[in-house]
Amino acid sequence: MSTTAQMLSRRLPLPNQPPLTIPQIHLGLYQMSPSTTTSSVLAALKTGYLGFDSAQWYNNESATGAAITSYLTSHPSLTRSSIFYTSKLRSNSTDYTAVRTSITSSVQASGLGYIDLFLLHSPYGGKKARLITWKAVEDAILAGEIRSGGVSNYGVKHVEELMGWEELKVKPVVNQIEVHPFHTQEEIRGVCEKYGIAVQAYAPLVAGMRMGHSVVVGMSEKYGCTPAQLLVRWSIQHGFVTLPKSSRPDRIAENADVGWFEISAEDMKTLDGLDEKLVTDWDPTDAP
Ligand SMILES: NC(=O)c1ccc[n+]([C@@H]2O[C@H](COP(=O)([O-])OP(=O)(O)OC[C@H]3O[C@@H](n4cnc5c(N)ncnc54)[C@H](OP(=O)(O)O)[C@@H]3O)[C@@H](O)[C@H]2O)c1
Repeated sequence: MSTTAQMLSRRLPLPNQPPLTIPQIHLGLYQMSPSTTTSSVLAALKTGYLGFDSAQWYNNESATGAAITSYLTSHPSLTRSSIFYTSKLRSNSTDYTAVRTSITSSVQASGLGYIDLFLLHSPYGGKKARLITWKAVEDAILAGEIRSGGVSNYGVKHVEELMGWEELKVKPVVNQIEVHPFHTQEEIRGVCEKYGIAVQAYAPLVAGMRMGHSVVVGMSEKYGCTPAQLLVRWSIQHGFVTLPKSSRPDRIAENADVGWFEISAEDMKTLDGLDEKLVTDWDPTDAP
């Protein structure tokens, strides 16, 4: 059984870029204004979170980076290298230079010196844009601006396309997709596993849409946890990197306090069986 601090310092290997590892729990930062981002990132750091998931789209890269920097300044025992900061490219493009410039802007906006993981936010834009954009990510890694690259919302054919590309120099380390008991994504997860790509589970709390579901509520009562903790725990026991979002300090702490119970194999199966392919926000996995 693990404490919150131990849960938040758990790291998973990234098989496509050894010896790189990634914290298993990150704070999701979607739909947070800059000022909410500042207070949430500071609350998360105080709780012990080390991973933060931002994006160009979220308009909070600067607020996230500034909050991390100010916390590091006042807590010298924690270093930049203990933090894992992610951002994502707004749109793929066939204009290589525009993508390289955009990546540099994200690095500068964060003020963190480098980005640990930079993702293509979606497969939209077509094959040519996806591959040219990936080349720009590879070159940003080789230039030291970002430490690793990954994809998000990639369906099976997009993963196969990238992994089968004859010019591929650097493999993606993650595919960030919607995964929770109500959308288990087994097919995409299978292809990711085949290629050593770690799965980052977004919307692990089902964006709040199934907190009152009878199975979730019944099972949380059985374990003595909250519905949110049950959902985070499910994500962790499946071995995903999980990204619960909250802007409330009490929930930020609650969502990481999941090391004191374990969901049985039978209950994991019951939760897996809730799959209804529920999309909470968008689903670009079948983009042409
Ligand atoms: N790559 C992509 O396309 C993509 C898409 C979606 C999400 N993401 C990433 O994944 C992260 C998580 O996804 P998400 O933000 O959509 O949804 P989520 O984390 O599944 O759920 C967030 C919702 O749950 C509420 N909540 C949080 N903790 C709770 C608790 N303990 N009890 C009850 N309600 C709670 C939050 O409200 P409060 O804030 O008020 O607590 C918010 O409404 C995002 O922030 C983002 O970083 C990526």
